[in-house]
Amino acid sequence: MPETQVGRDVEYAAHLLRAGRLVAIPTETVYGLAADAWNPAAVAAVFEAKQRPSFDPLIVHVPDRTAVSDVVEQFPPLAERLMAAFWPGPLTLVLPRRSCIPDLVTSGLPGVGVRVPAHPLTQQLLRAAGRPLAAPSANPFGGISPTTPQHVLDGLAGRVDYVLDGGSCAVGVESTVLSLMQQRPQLLRPGGISLEDLERIAGPIELSQPAGSEEPAPQLAPGMLSRHYAPGTPLQLLAADAEARPIPGLRCGLLTWGPSPEIPGFERIYRLGMGEDLKICASNFFAGLRDLDSAGLDVIIGRLFPEHGLGRALNDRLQRGAVGGSLPDVQAARVP
Ligand code: TXA
Ligand code: MG
Repeated sequence: MPETQVGRDVEYAAHLLRAGRLVAIPTETVYGLAADAWNPAAVAAVFEAKQRPSFDPLIVHVPDRTAVSDVVEQFPPLAERLMAAFWPGPLTLVLPRRSCIPDLVTSGLPGVGVRVPAHPLTQQLLRAAGRPLAAPSANPFGGISPTTPQHVLDGLAGRVDYVLDGGSCAVGVESTVLSLMQQRPQLLRPGGISLEDLERIAGPIELSQPAGSEEPAPQLAPGMLSRHYAPGTPLQLLAADAEARPIPGLRCGLLTWGPSPEIPGFERIYRLGMGEDLKICASNFFAGLRDLDSAGLDVIIGRLFPEHGLGRALNDRLQRGAVGGSLPDVQAARVP
């Protein structure tokens, strides 16, 4: 593949997608790696570019509620109410799929994840392309999600034809994934729409397993593999209200939020927000994690958030990022 181009040419991006090529698209949550959802070879190229296992299904993006019937067999009244309340926006609904969807998109599951993204450029693109777009986050599998065109290039340059430049993503964490495949709605992934807001419309929602627990059966919620959103640098978690202390002998970075004073002993500190506004923290979150990850540190210490609102999604990303990252031996890491 020739070098990846970056630009704002919606018509060109639509032309590439119709020709079965891959385009990174801006959404309000994170950048997606998009392909024509009707084209199995293009969808296979997405899995290949990301090195993503085929049991992890892709979200299908459509321009509006009417277009949902192209991919979904029927929707329950609750789906209608959720769509009316939260679309366009960061909510993915898993609904009974139409049989015309390539198996690879849903990893053979009976449900398809569908959402209407809010970013104006991608709205234009979906209309220009005239077909649904299957798109996972535009990062190598398991890595940190991209919230700028540069992040996409850092992970996938040469493996995507075009990056549609829509600036930085406003929400900054992925969509909330809610399954309506059973009697009771089930939260498969916390994200940009909070559980509290969903429950206001949907009533009680069943929670799936938290990060760090035993890995669930792939067919239940494939993206729930424990280690995910992971920096290359080991990540350790700090309670929301605990005092941050560096680990002696290690080059430590701190990913934090709130107005706490400068903390001595850290090689690098990334403050996601000065206050406790979780929206601001979320919009900076992946950029902050990337910044620390590229700073040559031995360990990143990440401060957890209060477990409500967007804090639930941010904690989920921190917890999955921290799974299995082992610290270097303090003695070995000490500068001689
Ligand atoms: O905000 C987002 O959701 C972004 C943007 C690009 O839309 N996309 C995204 O996609 O985060 P991805 O592939 O990184 O994560 C999607 C997750 C999957 O890992 C899986 O857990 C769940 O959504 N999912 C998708 N389709 C599903 C299905 N048919 N059944 C169950 N879970 C599904
Ligand atoms: Mg992802």
